Amino acid sequence: MPAALVVPTPARLSDAQAGALWVNYLSVWVMAVEVLKLGAGDTLLQTAAGSQLGRAMIELARARGFGLINVVRRREQVDELRALGAAHVLCSADEDVPGRARELTGGRGVTAAIDPVGGRTGALAIASLKNDGTALLFGALAREPVPVDPGLLLFRELTVRGFWLTRWLGKTPPERVRAAVGSVLGLVESGDFTPAVDRTYPLAEVAAAARHAEAPGRRGAVVLLDEPAGG
Ligand SMILES: NC(=O)c1ccc[n+]([C@@H]2O[C@H](COP(=O)([O-])OP(=O)(O)OC[C@H]3O[C@@H](n4cnc5c(N)ncnc54)[C@H](OP(=O)(O)O)[C@@H]3O)[C@@H](O)[C@H]2O)c1
Repeated sequence: MPAALVVPTPARLSDAQAGALWVNYLSVWVMAVEVLKLGAGDTLLQTAAGSQLGRAMIELARARGFGLINVVRRREQVDELRALGAAHVLCSADEDVPGRARELTGGRGVTAAIDPVGGRTGALAIASLKNDGTALLFGALAREPVPVDPGLLLFRELTVRGFWLTRWLGKTPPERVRAAVGSVLGLVESGDFTPAVDRTYPLAEVAAAARHAEAPGRRGAVVLLDEPAGG
């Protein structure tokens, strides 16, 4: 591993929590702060809000003071996310997501939306945007194209774009990447970011770990962790 890519584990975190930190917490920081530049007065809508990344975004919204509307597909996740402190949780199975997003933003719609699902869910995220709003599509969990009404895009002058952390890391000046990594570490040290681990598995049980990671109802990341020999 090149030394420049190594970051010390923050003292607050176990090794398993550190394993659950980087991709999702750095992604929420970069999407919300570096790309969308959200601040107080802005409202973000996120789909798949019960994902590990979604839970990280709930922590970031609280720490940075921007509004957040969470969308999940299973009603049982609504109370779970409320218990984590999420003020607004909508269930796409039985609620009109764009209509409720407008109600919650004084009739305007949300500043920005992020969606890792695609298909109908991605379209709901785009339809929730206010004029000049931006949607970041960053995953394709449904493996379906997003049906977008061109009328929505043109009359509201919306922006729909992709986001991939790997590409952002490659094209961003190293000092800005270091600052973003430092900001994530700062939020870990302050207690604002606490990655949740559902279960760890030794490397030899990688197949069981992958099955667990694919199963619904997890409350945290699944982490591969081999204790050092003798320890
Ligand atoms: N582009 C990037 O740079 C980047 C960076 C980080 C993560 N990601 C992507 O972000 C996504 C979330 O990552 P994660 O580690 O947080 O995942 P995760 O913890 O495994 O959670 C996946 C979530 O997606 C939901 N989901 C799965 N299929 C769905 C569907 N067809 N419709 C609606 N919801 C669906 C699941 O809901 P249920 O609980 O109801 O099953 C679950 O809440 C992944 O797609 C990952 O690839 C992308």
